[in-house]
Amino acid sequence: MLRCDQTAAWNQLGEHFASSGKSFDARTALAQDASRVNALSQAAPHVFADLSKNRIDAATEALLMQLARECGLEVQRDAMLSGEAINSTENRAVLHTLLRRKQPVAVIESAQSATHLIANADKLSAVHSVLKAMLAYAESIRADDEITDIVNIGIGGSDLGPAMATIALDEFVTPKKRFHFVSNVDGHELAATLKHLKAKNTLFLIASKTFTTIETMTNAESAKAWFTAQGGTDTARHFAALTTNVQAANAFGITTTFGFWDWVGGRYSLWSAIGLPLAIAIGAENFRQFLRGAADMDEHFATAPLEKNLPVRLGLLDVWYRNFHGFTSRCVAPYHSALRRFPAYLQQLEMESNGKRVDKAGQALPFHTSPVVWGEPGTNGQHAFFQMLHQGTEVIPLEFVAVKHAAHAMQDHHTKLLANAIAQSQAFLQGKSSEDGHRHFPGNRPGSFFVLDALTPASLGALIALYEHRVFVSGAIWGINSFDQFGVELGKVLAKDVEARLLSGNVQGVDSSTAQLISKLQ
Ligand code: F6P
Repeated sequence: MLRCDQTAAWNQLGEHFASSGKSFDARTALAQDASRVNALSQAAPHVFADLSKNRIDAATEALLMQLARECGLEVQRDAMLSGEAINSTENRAVLHTLLRRKQPVAVIESAQSATHLIANADKLSAVHSVLKAMLAYAESIRADDEITDIVNIGIGGSDLGPAMATIALDEFVTPKKRFHFVSNVDGHELAATLKHLKAKNTLFLIASKTFTTIETMTNAESAKAWFTAQGGTDTARHFAALTTNVQAANAFGITTTFGFWDWVGGRYSLWSAIGLPLAIAIGAENFRQFLRGAADMDEHFATAPLEKNLPVRLGLLDVWYRNFHGFTSRCVAPYHSALRRFPAYLQQLEMESNGKRVDKAGQALPFHTSPVVWGEPGTNGQHAFFQMLHQGTEVIPLEFVAVKHAAHAMQDHHTKLLANAIAQSQAFLQGKSSEDGHRHFPGNRPGSFFVLDALTPASLGALIALYEHRVFVSGAIWGINSFDQFGVELGKVLAKDVEARLLSGNVQGVDSSTAQLISKLQ
């Protein structure tokens, strides 16, 4: 498998960038080429994408496809889907797609997917037995009127996914329960949540893949202490654990557990037992629809030719922007307030996956990897940071997510919202000439535009899977391991040491700045 910079296409892309890519103007391209919109638009399952305002054309895409082939993208994709241990630093398979596969009998359509299923039959049947148990439990909680508050305690992948999706699918959420997500070790978060709750009406879900994460364990201990102090005794009824480490959950005193497996990465775990708060919120059938939407996108990713494969096109566009144009960040602007936590979710997905500086062999990379991913819903962002996107010195590709049908009846609001999304994408492209520099908009600022028909469990599932696969694609081209996260370890180890020093006041052996901070905050 060649790393991108060892391929012929990489050099050709460099030449192509110097000769025409750098000065490419999407305005001119759109004006001159009547087929451009069509060529750079595509319907994928549940998601329509218009990529035509980006700084690419057929020649760029052809070279990017050549790059993908030289890097063995299809082989790498199939290795992931078939359960090879592609997380090489931890010797683990990466099989979050298995979590949303339908039962084998219903799904064997192509020889390829059949092979995948036979190889992973045991895992798939384990997936379905946990799913069945977890959805039955979700329904029992939904029917239990005494439980009014669900508190998910987890962080990172054990928080962002279920929190984001529960907010996004608010329209489908039972009005009979309130959902709380406590992630930070900052006690203000837990205290602010607990002060409104009663033990007899509360269900705590302790969500942790490892069941060792300091923040989660600290919050879980405090929740247990609060529960006992409130007179709560029935832990089996009021606590459930979502974890791969059932033993540790049992040792903590939790007997109601839903398991998953080491081949599910934390940031890819929303589809597993970690999705339980979402399943309670939207119900079993909607949760199955959510999985189905993602499975539809998986099927597209697994089978569509590269040229018509949306995650592939997006992942390659990301490489083009990061490595040739040198764009350092990408902004995601969902034009739907229910998607307000989507950018935060994507930050972990993309930056924890692809924020790597060495290739799979551990060699330092001579090119850049993950951009900074950030964003806020429109139209709010328009009145805040869009100024910089329109007229700042850096070019930052912008991604719009618009939803055609609103979930409310105030159509005039929705028309205004959609008009703003379209107008902004138009403004970024067109710009506006003015003799007065302050009033000049350079334009040709690249943007992608995604359209969902409605924000439903299925379309949200597909949208998330689209991003998951896109991140896989750029990671595969860069030749990195997108599935480990050693970068988070150092701070965790040092925090333990600093915690002890904050208690003891001993600053011996630490640098003078850190010593000062310890003394100040002691
Ligand atoms: O600190 C990073 C991380 O390991 C994430 O990858 C993960 O999603 C999060 O911590 C939480 O981990 P756990 O689910 O094991 O508590």
